[in-house]
Amino acid sequence: MKLVKLSLLALLSPALSHAASSAALKDFLLVTTDQKESTTNSADLKAVSATSLFDPYYQPNVLLRLIDPGYGSLPNFTLTGGQLQTLNPLPHGGDYVLYNSTTVAEGKELQFFAEVEPRGNLDLDQGYLLSVDGDSEGWTLCPGSLSARVVAWKGTAEGCKKTYLQAVQKAPY
Ligand SMILES: *[C@@H]1O[C@H](CO)[C@@H](O)[C@H](O)[C@H]1NC(C)=O
Ligand SMILES: *[C@@H]1O[C@H](CO)[C@@H](O)[C@H](O)[C@H]1NC(C)=O
Repeated sequence: MKLVKLSLLALLSPALSHAASSAALKDFLLVTTDQKESTTNSADLKAVSATSLFDPYYQPNVLLRLIDPGYGSLPNFTLTGGQLQTLNPLPHGGDYVLYNSTTVAEGKELQFFAEVEPRGNLDLDQGYLLSVDGDSEGWTLCPGSLSARVVAWKGTAEGCKKTYLQAVQKAPY
């Protein structure tokens, strides 16, 4: 999948990105990292990891998990109406459709469904930091099925670890 540039304006200018946050922010990748500050090169982010969509056993709710180097492609996202959207195939080799994230809730994974969702509570703080109701502190990486590490909001299960989610234009690896 071709990677498309995230608006440079949104990345570089907090003032402008605030104005832009009501509109759709288009075509970025999501990475997890231990640091809150952005970098020009996502490979320089502390403990950075690329993310990929994850639907173990064809479950209808698609999750976000960490993915190591060697992947084929990474999902790109748009943020609109407080929700993330991304193209993903329906289970069992179906067509690609626009998956929409659900309202993020405490202790739950970040989830996407192939259905219309009500307005969400996500935003990109300063144009790059994924936030829930304005708060970017609370993302966690938690143990999921098949040994995956999955993104959750304020996960409390054993082994959950604090992280930040950043929107970047280029994959870290
Ligand atoms: C992601 O990238 C593809 C290919 O460039 C594009 O068709 C699609 O609209 C982009 N956005 C989303 C939300 O997938
Ligand atoms: C996801 O939401 C968009 C905007 O509301 C909608 O057009 C699209 O059909 C939804 N996706 C699915 C698979 O229903």
